[in-house]
Amino acid sequence: MAVREIVRFGEDVLRGKSAEVTEFNEELWELLDDMYDTMMEANGVGLAAPQVGVLKRVVVIDVDDDNGRIELVNPVITGMMGKQLETEGCLSYPGKSGIVKRPAKVKVKAFDRYGKPVKYYGRGLLARAFCHEIDHLNGILFADKVIEWIEEEK
Ligand code: NI
Repeated sequence: MAVREIVRFGEDVLRGKSAEVTEFNEELWELLDDMYDTMMEANGVGLAAPQVGVLKRVVVIDVDDDNGRIELVNPVITGMMGKQLETEGCLSYPGKSGIVKRPAKVKVKAFDRYGKPVKYYGRGLLARAFCHEIDHLNGILFADKVIEWIEEEK
C-alpha cells in the first residue's frame, strides 16, 4: 500500500473516460488500497482512479458512516431521488469549494474487488460522494457543476 500523487485540475487525464474493469486481480487490489491510503492521507471522503492517473472505473469512498470503506468497481447509478444544494470540494481542486446541486438519495450498483455484485444506498453526503466520484469516471468535474463558488479562506 502506498500514497500516490493526486492529479490536479488542468491535467488531461481528469477529462478522460475511464474503462470498465474486466480483471479483478492483484493489480486492482493494489490500486484500491493505494487509492484508499491516498484519500485518507488527504483527508478526503472520496477518490476516483483518474485522480491518481488511472483511467479505470474504480472509486473509493469513506464518509465515516456505518458503511466504512466503500469500494466501487464499474459503478452505475440505478436510482436518484430528491435534490440537495450543498457545498462540495474535490481533492483535485485543493482549497476550492462551491455549491453543487445533487440528488438527495442515490442507489448504486457496482462490483467489489473480487467481482461480486454489490448495491449501496446513500443519502446526504454519501449520495453526493457517489455522484461526484462517478462523474470523475466520465471526465466530469465538480467545477463544471458549481452554481456558486465559496470564497476561499485566507
Ligand atoms: Ni473529485
